[in-house]
Amino acid sequence: MKALITGIGSYVPEKVLTNFDFEKMVDTSDEWIRTRSGIKERHVTTADQATSDLSVIAAQRALKSAGVKSKDIGAIILATATPDMLFPSTACLVQARIGAPHVIAFDISAGCTGFLYGLAIAESFVMHGYNNLLVIGADNLTKITDYTDRTTCVLFGDGAGAAVVKRTDDNENGIISSYFAADGSSWEPLQQPAGGSRIPASYDSVDKRLHFIKMQGNEVFKLAVRAMSEAAIKTLKRASIHASEIDLLIPHQANIRIIEASAKRLHIPMDKVIINLDRYGNTSAASIPIALDEAAQQGRLCKGSLVLMIAFGAGFTWGGVLFRY
Ligand code: ACO
Repeated sequence: MKALITGIGSYVPEKVLTNFDFEKMVDTSDEWIRTRSGIKERHVTTADQATSDLSVIAAQRALKSAGVKSKDIGAIILATATPDMLFPSTACLVQARIGAPHVIAFDISAGCTGFLYGLAIAESFVMHGYNNLLVIGADNLTKITDYTDRTTCVLFGDGAGAAVVKRTDDNENGIISSYFAADGSSWEPLQQPAGGSRIPASYDSVDKRLHFIKMQGNEVFKLAVRAMSEAAIKTLKRASIHASEIDLLIPHQANIRIIEASAKRLHIPMDKVIINLDRYGNTSAASIPIALDEAAQQGRLCKGSLVLMIAFGAGFTWGGVLFRY
């Protein structure tokens, strides 16, 4: 028995911020942002758009593409670092809105690796007899972005992506292998310090801007290249598949230089790599399912494609999933 991705959907909000918009907000330039990160523009939520709003649309699109009715969903697994609120889970809010009464629903927190962690959980649900697992990666990072901090504000965008995972007896297709890791001792370079139980919200935490993302970009950069390569190598090794056999590499979309460095280490040519960070920025847990959906829409992801997805994120977490579509 295997877990097969049968439907994919995504949604990004309509509002767009370009690099030129940032030139008017902080001391930066289109040239700096493009050359250091590869990003040209990003879609951002309006004040009234929460993570569940993005997730519901992506989920409905994925269900439609899989031909699955919401009443037939086996569980909803939602990866996010920016839930609507700390509790209840955003997955429960989505469950109510898409009409899947009493279906298991929970959030997971694994930063930008969250969607891949979610797929692995869905796969284990399949092994326990569940079917039609809805896995959502959704983030609303611009709600926790400090628009006075030029080192972070230019990097992030918002969006959601979703996949429906089915049980299959088909030996050819489905999830073939995966690899996951985490290193909690490397949490400091990427964090949202306040709002949890360590530093609850207070006038002081707001004054010190502690509810915004804090990132030491170059520290994260170094960890990221190593983690992405390790995730790819170990995932492929578990399936005894060589990198040259891959049809598509879908990496987490954080920085074009991280993606290029990882592809180079793996000897995977860039024409096999899906890139959309130029238009969306880093959408965290949403970045891989959005890229997956775009690849399907563009006909680059076809029936039978061998696809490797790799990610890293806050935690520090990293991992890879190899599947045949
Ligand atoms: N515009 C102009 N100059 C800037 C900007 C900006 N927006 N941001 C930083 N700079 C300056 C810095 O102040 C520094 O100036 P200095 O040399 O005078 O001190 C200089 O540019 C170089 O700064 P670095 O941080 O060393 O630049 P770097 O080449 O590392 O690029 C970047 C920065 C794009 C953040 C990169 O480090 C990166 O992408 N890191 C990884 C981030 C990431 O992948 N995060 C993923 C996880 S996100 C999540 O999970 C939510």
